[in-house]
Amino acid sequence: MKVLAFNTSPRKQQGTTDIILDYFLNGASEAGATVKKYYVTELDIQGCIGCFKCWTETPGRCIYRDDMDKIISEYLNADMIVFGTPIYNENITHYLQRMMERMLPLLLPWMEERQGIIYHPLRYRSKHQKIVLIAVSGFPDQRTFHHVRNLFPNALHILLPFGEMLRDPEGKELVKDFIEAVPVAARQLIKRGEVDQDIKEKVIVKYRSKVKKELMEIANRFFKEAMKT
Ligand SMILES: Cc1cc2nc3c(=O)[nH]c(=O)nc-3n(C[C@H](O)[C@H](O)[C@H](O)COP(=O)(O)O)c2cc1C
Repeated sequence: MKVLAFNTSPRKQQGTTDIILDYFLNGASEAGATVKKYYVTELDIQGCIGCFKCWTETPGRCIYRDDMDKIISEYLNADMIVFGTPIYNENITHYLQRMMERMLPLLLPWMEERQGIIYHPLRYRSKHQKIVLIAVSGFPDQRTFHHVRNLFPNALHILLPFGEMLRDPEGKELVKDFIEAVPVAARQLIKRGEVDQDIKEKVIVKYRSKVKKELMEIANRFFKEAMKT
């Protein structure tokens, strides 16, 4: 099993997306998978200009020669794709959006309809890939993940509100179940192709109202202090 992961946080190793990605990738390695992680902000990826030449003049091939050449070939060969993103403006980061727009050559231009949903079929009959979405936010509630959940409806969702929890010993204790469940989810997905319902629930963290209020106060205090210095 080949697992290909993308960290799309510009904070790279300093961010909290990376911590969760590593929990997941360690679990996948333990289950025997080969894992590879890219920091998308380090890649040379030109923005799609919507010329559609990858559908017309050179079917399956973009006009740009950049790091997407190797990414697309590795993407097609992977059994599992893991997208890691912080929530920016209630959405994925623009780094992830840019990379995904450049996946247009992987689709055929034809429009088809299945169960009321219009879509473009895949150009290459690739093996069925598992998709995992890891997202972290600054706000302490699940509402901020609403849009990204819908962007990846068929993915396993690993969603941690107030990601800074992972840097604080007390915070880590509070999300202990989450920290333990993430590698278990990876192992189950690699070995069995599916994840138990109780594990799926544990990797989507929901804080009680009292905790949310406390986290808001901590965040507000932090920024007030930071502004003084
Ligand atoms: C430009 C920008 C926009 C953000 N927008 C949101 C948002 O809409 N909702 C939210 O909960 N957090 C938002 N955040 C906070 C990040 O999601 C949070 O800091 C996250 O932990 C960053 O992940 P990282 O540590 O991996 O970089 C935003 C942060 C930045 C820099």
